[in-house]
Amino acid sequence: MRRVLLWAARDRWLKEHLPRMRFMRRAVRRFMPGETLDDALSAGVPLERLGITTAYTRLGESLESPAEAEAVVAHYLEVIDRIQASGMQGEISVKPTQLGLDFDAEVCLANAVTLANHAAAAGQFFWIDMEGSAYTESTIVLYEKLRAVAPQTGICLQAYLRRSAADIQRLLPLDPAIRLVKGAYDEPEAIAFRDRSGVSASFAGLAIRFLLDGRDRPIKLSLGTHDVGLIEQIADQVAQSGIDRDAYEIEMLYGIREDQQKRLLKAGYQVRALISYGEAWYPWYMRRLAERPANIGFALRQILP
Ligand code: FDA
Repeated sequence: MRRVLLWAARDRWLKEHLPRMRFMRRAVRRFMPGETLDDALSAGVPLERLGITTAYTRLGESLESPAEAEAVVAHYLEVIDRIQASGMQGEISVKPTQLGLDFDAEVCLANAVTLANHAAAAGQFFWIDMEGSAYTESTIVLYEKLRAVAPQTGICLQAYLRRSAADIQRLLPLDPAIRLVKGAYDEPEAIAFRDRSGVSASFAGLAIRFLLDGRDRPIKLSLGTHDVGLIEQIADQVAQSGIDRDAYEIEMLYGIREDQQKRLLKAGYQVRALISYGEAWYPWYMRRLAERPANIGFALRQILP
């Protein structure tokens, strides 16, 4: 089922036709407050009032020209300003291909520096998302160069990739900020753990080692997962070494396990919700369905009156 959904996420015909269907548009609302920046910021306000901080990302398709990357930069400059004006503790998270990684790595870096500097001036952190494995190395090189000039920046790493342990060791001298996630793409066995228990074990091992290795350094870790058992396992294990809950942050997607987001907040964890918005939501939504095929039942129920 997961593979079928991930295939459907990439299929051109489905990408063009499914998003037009009303039941799909209704179903996606569970994970996305709306297509506009206003929808996203409005959804952030009540969360921030509760103490759940926010992050924002605009869903995007592959870019067809470098000029489109300029439009993405202009959009996120506005997002940074709007977050600052709202008084929220929000931050932005951006896919490197949206900044031009497919066209020109130097242009992509210049765009990332522009956004990171603007975010830092507004007192905000700037995050780089991680895409499929074709982009892993170029995204890490991008981050190494970005971090050298813009310290308030972080990168997402995927626990399902076998290379991630080495990547964390490689980044450690930079005192990195890492958002660790399990990984959302369909990667082959040769480079990725494919079974749930292997991915979870990798996630726990990477998080614990990073927190222990970086304990005397100004590193930052965000646990980007809805797997509460895994979060608590990591928390218990590092607590034995005197590492408290304020040494890392829990990050979940808007609309997923909201009850747990509130419960963890009450239990003393720092919790952030990543809010996605934008018109190009189809492949992203299919990846969310692939993570939990039970959500298909929810999507299908939207067909009924
Ligand atoms: P897992 O899938 O094992 O889920 C654990 C439990 O959480 C499930 O049993 C279920 O109860 C609940 N749950 C999980 N997903 C759900 C869903 N869609 N609907 C309802 N319940 C659900 N990936 C990537 O490759 N690159 C990236 O840049 C990012 N960025 C990112 C940022 C943040 C803040 C988050 C939370 C996630 C990402 N991801 C990502 C996605 C990530 O790789 C992963 O696919 C999802 O988080 C799902 O995995 P979990 O860790 O939640 O565990």
